[in-house]
Amino acid sequence: MASDKNVKKKTDEENSGLSEIFEYRKKLKKILKPERYEHSLSVSFTCICLAMRYGVDLYRAEVAGLLHDCAKQFSNHELITLCEKEGVEFTEDMLKAPQVIHSVYGAEYARKAFKIDDREILSAIYYHTLGRPEMSVLEAIVFVADYIEARRYKADRLPEIRKLAFCDLDRAVYEINHDTISYLEESGGFICKDSYDTYHYYKELMKKQGLPIK
Ligand SMILES: [Fe+2]
Ligand SMILES: [Fe+2]
Repeated sequence: MASDKNVKKKTDEENSGLSEIFEYRKKLKKILKPERYEHSLSVSFTCICLAMRYGVDLYRAEVAGLLHDCAKQFSNHELITLCEKEGVEFTEDMLKAPQVIHSVYGAEYARKAFKIDDREILSAIYYHTLGRPEMSVLEAIVFVADYIEARRYKADRLPEIRKLAFCDLDRAVYEINHDTISYLEESGGFICKDSYDTYHYYKELMKKQGLPIK
């Protein structure tokens, strides 16, 4: 049995994953526009807060939040080309709203460029735009944090949804989906089937819980 003095103790930085976080931030800052980088930082901090509230691993939440938009550096055309070249599947629907492909390709890019192999983190990046029925808590946290982070200001009901996010995460997912779909319907934007699937799942969940729906 090795004596304690031979065992190299981890530094506080190593224990908290801070050295990796610093590396991810450094790399991300180089590839994203300044506003997008700030948004990514803000999402990561919001993810940490929500992870504290819902008992999720803080490090995973921080990394998923930080890297959720890591593929935003690519144009829609580049994203489609990269997916085709690297065998990353996307739906026909996504071609009609190609901006959502940054989440699908983002999971692959985080794996390759940032060496992330944690499936829960990759999955949270993958689903952060359209969500999916029965999201994991980490997936829901990134989905919600992306919408409510402090730098956002355009959505009408932000104060209400921000508060809700810390009371009932599923309800926040439902409200965000509702408002996003309503906005796209009113503005003539294309709505992916995956987005409707997420919305209908959470609407049913609200009904089952006896909560009011719109
Ligand atoms: Fe995004
Ligand atoms: Fe984002």
